[in-house]
Amino acid sequence: MSKVYILMGVSGVGKTTLGMMLAEELSVPFYDADNFHSASNKEKMQNGIPLTDLDREGWLGKMSSLIPEWQSSNGGVLACSALKEKYRNQLAGGIDKDLEWIFLFEDFSIIADRISKRKLHFFNPDLLKSQYDTLEPPDYGIHIKVENSPEESLKEILQKLNMPEFGIIGLGVMGKSLALNMAGKNFLVSVYNRREGELEENIAQNFVDKYSDKYQLQGFDDLKNFVFSLKSPKKILLMIKAGDPIDEIIEELIPFLKTGDLILDGGNSHFKDTERRLEKLSELGIHFLGVGISGGEDGALNGPSIMPGGSKEGYNRVKDLLGSIAAKDRLERPCCNYIGPGSSGHYVKMVHNGIEYGEMQLIAEFYYFMRYFQDRSPEAISKVFTEWNLKQISFLLEITADILLKKENNQYLLDKVLDIAGQKGTGGWTTVAALEVGVSLDTITASVFARNISAFKKHKNQVRELYKLKNKADLEITDDELFKSYRSASVINHSIGFELLRIASVEYGWNLNFSEIARIWTNGCIIRSSFMEKLSGIYDSTKSSHLLLYPDIAEKLNEDQEIFTRIIPAILSQGCPMQVCSSALNYFLSFTRENTPANLIQAQRDYFGAHTYERIDKPRGEYFHSNWKPE
Ligand code: 6PG
Repeated sequence: MSKVYILMGVSGVGKTTLGMMLAEELSVPFYDADNFHSASNKEKMQNGIPLTDLDREGWLGKMSSLIPEWQSSNGGVLACSALKEKYRNQLAGGIDKDLEWIFLFEDFSIIADRISKRKLHFFNPDLLKSQYDTLEPPDYGIHIKVENSPEESLKEILQKLNMPEFGIIGLGVMGKSLALNMAGKNFLVSVYNRREGELEENIAQNFVDKYSDKYQLQGFDDLKNFVFSLKSPKKILLMIKAGDPIDEIIEELIPFLKTGDLILDGGNSHFKDTERRLEKLSELGIHFLGVGISGGEDGALNGPSIMPGGSKEGYNRVKDLLGSIAAKDRLERPCCNYIGPGSSGHYVKMVHNGIEYGEMQLIAEFYYFMRYFQDRSPEAISKVFTEWNLKQISFLLEITADILLKKENNQYLLDKVLDIAGQKGTGGWTTVAALEVGVSLDTITASVFARNISAFKKHKNQVRELYKLKNKADLEITDDELFKSYRSASVINHSIGFELLRIASVEYGWNLNFSEIARIWTNGCIIRSSFMEKLSGIYDSTKSSHLLLYPDIAEKLNEDQEIFTRIIPAILSQGCPMQVCSSALNYFLSFTRENTPANLIQAQRDYFGAHTYERIDKPRGEYFHSNWKPE
């Protein structure tokens, strides 16, 4: 598709002159709207009879039907007054892609003066006045005040046509990497970073300067200039700290934005904040997308996994851009797709992080066992993880194998790292979100709690003194048994995360496509793995069940079941903690037993609180109360 440029404005503003110059510059055909009038319209105009909207309808419709033809060949430049929004809509006929509006304007007196000097025939200033009265300046497109020579106006048009399409606010690690990724794909990008104090370096300009020989980036530390540097409708990606800073910047942006502009929040925002912001911005006619972006610095630079949710119309505007900067799956499709309405994009990213927490802790638990209970060196464990990674590719296994080899002054760097795990919140949010929809989130919650426990280092040291744990005699556990136990726990951790998504999708009416979510996670993101490839194939695009119900999953778990149920308790029995592995096993056992002790819980509740219970020998929905006290 080629672009069609429409130069619009009152008569005498220079549409034809500039239009022809622009067409020549771009080597595309020039079209003058006057040439598309019907004979009857022409006759009316010759006799000085003003055209009615009805007269204009056929004329605009004719051009509107020609525009797609021009677009499918070389494109073109059309000079057409298109004074009212209604006329422009008729002309565009629903096409908003590959149409570039160029609005030429100048004060009435200047144009009147120009026309009266230029035209040899009588000039009626009333006619021009009525055009000014009719004019509804567009709040989009390129605006050119034709105060200079046509050559200079042309230069300005060409410069503005080169205006960045996309803006990024926030030049932290992720913001910078995404800007470079976009620039590397030939997108024109403006970047903004607040100048915190007088002494603060000019972060945006320095960043732009650093890459000026390679990329066309524009840098700003003034928000208004940044916003006005962008082509309309504006598309602005926020890559700043989640929480209040997002609300603050949105407030600052609103006065400079118009209906149809788009804000994308690419941080790890809480889904409820996203929901609230979406509601507020949609009332103002501003599109909003909560975009999960995974992959860290490297992913942002070379291709992250992208999960946009919210305004579908907004998504369609950035679909191509996001698709080209995203990682690619094995069939070269972008690891990016519209996730769903509302805050679904950020919710899905939150669950991604929950699964990530679980997977990280799982690997850490096996590392810990091999290191301190099997007395193996980091190098030897790295080798084990590399082997596992050949059997089941996982980015997290791969980086762990690297970490274990890293040395500083001939000593393992890992041994110098304080064992208190940080967290920014997404793991804990996943747990709370699961509680809100009544889902059991065992492994993910266990991984959050494992991080919490690690923070109580002082207490742990004191407690250790009090409880002398007896280590049992070494048990023989093979690497294959460890791998199969790891694989089972990992499958269960994924099942738990996807189950939360499945229930949340129903609860919030998002209609999530799990096959597509798994596909988006096959590359670029932190939990990318060959298992994710499998999940993408296992899930159906239209319906879904609990992952444990799929025959492929059942087959895998059944294969390893004897080992899994034997090895995890064996490791625990040696005094080695395994929070995630054991909760995965517990989840699996609770799900696969014919019944649970929940009947006893019901009886206890009924005993002390008359909470009633249902009976297996009566239909569901009938409630009973008994006097449980001994007679
Ligand atoms: C990603 C990561 C990224 C970040 C998380 C986890 O998908 O690229 O999940 O978003 O690492 O914020 O951070 P914490 O471990 O600090 O909670």
